[in-house]
Amino acid sequence: MIDQTRLPREVVFVTCRTYEQVAEAIRTMVIRGAPAIGVAAAMGVALGVASGGDLDRVCDTLARTRPTAVNLFWAIDRMKRLALSLSNRPAEEIRARLIEEALRIREQDIAINRSIGANGAPLVPDGKHVLTHCNAGALATAGYGTALGVIRAAAESGKKVAVYADETRPFLQGARLTAWELAQDGIPTTLITDNMAGYFLRKGDVGCVLVGADRIARNGDVANKIGTYSVAVLAKENSVPFYVAAPISTLDLTLAGGDEIPIEQRAASEVTHVFGVAVAPEGIGVANPAFDVTPHRYVTAIITEKGVARPPYTDSLPRLAALE
Ligand code: MRU
Repeated sequence: MIDQTRLPREVVFVTCRTYEQVAEAIRTMVIRGAPAIGVAAAMGVALGVASGGDLDRVCDTLARTRPTAVNLFWAIDRMKRLALSLSNRPAEEIRARLIEEALRIREQDIAINRSIGANGAPLVPDGKHVLTHCNAGALATAGYGTALGVIRAAAESGKKVAVYADETRPFLQGARLTAWELAQDGIPTTLITDNMAGYFLRKGDVGCVLVGADRIARNGDVANKIGTYSVAVLAKENSVPFYVAAPISTLDLTLAGGDEIPIEQRAASEVTHVFGVAVAPEGIGVANPAFDVTPHRYVTAIITEKGVARPPYTDSLPRLAALE
């Protein structure tokens, strides 16, 4: 995997040889983004079991890395169910089937992102800016991206698309990752600090907001990177559509609403320090929730690989999820 903590300064690949190393890479955000950590965890399960690890222990270690993105638990469950269904088979067969399944999850994720892109591209206005928050691109998935996949598909379809990328404090996924990805694609991108979003939304040249998601409750409430909620409120205030692009595996239909989504709290040093340099007085109190929940009333539509869900989400999301 690419070490995302070192982008954009250098492109360094990390090789994980044990499932513990995979878990550590997820925890420290060497790899991040909901679908990407799902794929990594699936590979971690295959790696752990193939090297003789206990299935429960391997799955628990990987599940304890980050709490918010449901794709992590979805992928671990899928691998665990397969392993259990093979429990009376020879070790060699279990090993081969788990590796095969992890690679299938990766391949399927890329295909899913292509479908999300195709379903979302018609919603992107021609000749205007798309504002995005955090990184929901190729780096956050197995490839192509969810929100950035929609932007890519719109550009590929011939639309004139430009992007405002929120820098996304404190971890700077927008500045370090989204800007890096889009620059490589030649999609015109303007990097802004998070507190500039309202200024640009009010100016009138933002055609829509497009973000990814870490977990979506049954009523359409969306957990995504901290700061997403503020952008959604500002979008509604300025009559700009707010779209969420996510695979069906990001839905958590067991949760009635967003208040039930566990929100990861990360280290204070991510807020007090920027690349190791202190930007706050020592000993100051700090809060660092990594995600927030955008209530469904701010969400214009949710773009999935199976189609576009519109309110009321309690009807549209289960209906999409049930489609073959
Ligand atoms: O903390 P991160 O970088 O893992 O958070 C990522 C996000 O919030 C993304 O927007 C989300 O996972 C969707 S990625 C396709």
